[in-house]
Amino acid sequence: MPNIDRIDAFADELSAIRRDLHAHPEIGFEEVRTSGIVAEKLAQWGIEVHRGLGGTGVVGVLKGKGNGTRRVGLRADMDALPMDENTNLKWRSTIPGRFHGCGHDGHTTILLGTARYLAETRNFDGTVHFIFQPAEEGLGGARAMIKDGLFEKFPCDEIYGLHNAPDLNHGELAILPGPAMAGADFFDITINGYGAHGAMPERSKDPIVIAMALVQALQSIVSRNVIPTEAAVVSITQIHAGSAYNVIPGDAKLAGTMRAFSDEVRALMRERMRAICAGMAAAFQVEIDVDIRDIFRVLVNQEEHSRVVAEAAQAVVGPANVKTRAQPKMGSEDFADMLQAVPGAYFWLGHDGSVPVHNPAFTLDDKILPVGASIFARIIETRLAAGHHA
Ligand code: NI
Repeated sequence: MPNIDRIDAFADELSAIRRDLHAHPEIGFEEVRTSGIVAEKLAQWGIEVHRGLGGTGVVGVLKGKGNGTRRVGLRADMDALPMDENTNLKWRSTIPGRFHGCGHDGHTTILLGTARYLAETRNFDGTVHFIFQPAEEGLGGARAMIKDGLFEKFPCDEIYGLHNAPDLNHGELAILPGPAMAGADFFDITINGYGAHGAMPERSKDPIVIAMALVQALQSIVSRNVIPTEAAVVSITQIHAGSAYNVIPGDAKLAGTMRAFSDEVRALMRERMRAICAGMAAAFQVEIDVDIRDIFRVLVNQEEHSRVVAEAAQAVVGPANVKTRAQPKMGSEDFADMLQAVPGAYFWLGHDGSVPVHNPAFTLDDKILPVGASIFARIIETRLAAGHHA
């Protein structure tokens, strides 16, 4: 089953765009060069361009043949990660501490390829909104665009997004209808104890001993409070306290992440975290501050739009390569916010790279570019079929 020929014909140009973006990575809300290239390409292909949504976000508007009023959104993320790249590729990052370690350079290029093909052929009836968002990596780029009026200025009846998946093979696609990626909170906990000489613990309210008890107690949220058939995780990922061998410090800080697949479970986990901290504070006669922040919503794919993705993908990569009941992922995705506002679906597309995302040696195989662009294009040509009026 084929990529779209016309897209295959400019696949080399897509690789060149992708490698240029890769060599010049920019992190969240700093995608000035990247968004400039996106805007320039879209304009060059005759697509109406709007810049500056949510900071560096870009929206391209393309109308098809006919008078159709339906509107479909396609979204890509543009940001890199604040980390060093450790590969020997010719197009490796030229900027220290900046790396497209999650393949968003590929996502941006795939959407550019889709835009070019659709602009050249316009074999659809309705409007496509190409949404290039900043700051997917935990900084809230989707929220920033939505807050800037994304869906008021560019209304969408449905919306689609994708992520590359090095754990799948080239040409394989996976999607999961329903909750597919976890909602995530980040939290900071500060234990305000009382410092003293290390030889005189009776004079202290030792925040380190309290922190150890608290870390253990917080693990009971998943094991004793959440229904065992629900997936949930509490990870304490940071502990900070102390500066000397003989000083009991005055305070200790814990930080980490909590994740689950439903808003009810997330609410329960927050409530238990606050209650356990309050109980520890009372037991040890200290104050404990808890700051829990909702960073990612649960990503929920609609049944209908998951089917649309599966059918479009089957036409491109063949039915045997499309998994329609993928494993849910405990990881999170900013696109969840857009899917809360507009129904749609998000899918994972395999490639020949095998190093996991966010690893310094991650590589994206460019052969994914025409595959992704072909699937996005087929979605548009199906959902905004020329000659139909919805
Ligand atoms: Ni990513």
